[in-house]
Amino acid sequence: MRVLYLNGPNLNLLGTREPGVYGRLTLGEIEAQVQALARTLGVETEFRQSNHEGELVTWIQHSPATHDVIVLNAAAYTHTSIALRDAIAATGQPTLEIHLSNVHAREEFRHRSLIAPVCRGIIAGFGGHSYILALHAAISLSPLQK
Ligand code: DQA
Repeated sequence: MRVLYLNGPNLNLLGTREPGVYGRLTLGEIEAQVQALARTLGVETEFRQSNHEGELVTWIQHSPATHDVIVLNAAAYTHTSIALRDAIAATGQPTLEIHLSNVHAREEFRHRSLIAPVCRGIIAGFGGHSYILALHAAISLSPLQK
């Protein structure tokens, strides 16, 4: 099984970005934790990050050829991007929405997700551990688990 982790804008700044909200782990450190677990579970993972909406759209469009599931932290695009939502719907690629912070405990504009209706599930509020939980959730979507 191959899981593609896509990360949206400003997540390259994790580690120093609002550590009271997002914690002190860098995206690279989160990736290392996920990959260590994935190896023990026999799952292939790949991490990408972009500050550009169109690049994320292109990665989603191409993902069915290379990956089984997307784990998507769309960051601020969660709340604004019809393009990301349409890309997920167009490909039919099983996608999990994740967030480090509990977006529902934050500003009102973060309560709305445009991508949630086309995602298979949502994980939010566990800091870097949201990415680990998402790996287990992605595995649970595998046809072998059904
Ligand atoms: C985030 C939550 C979003 O509201 C915010 O814009 C982010 C990060 C999170 O992981 O908690 O950039 O997706």
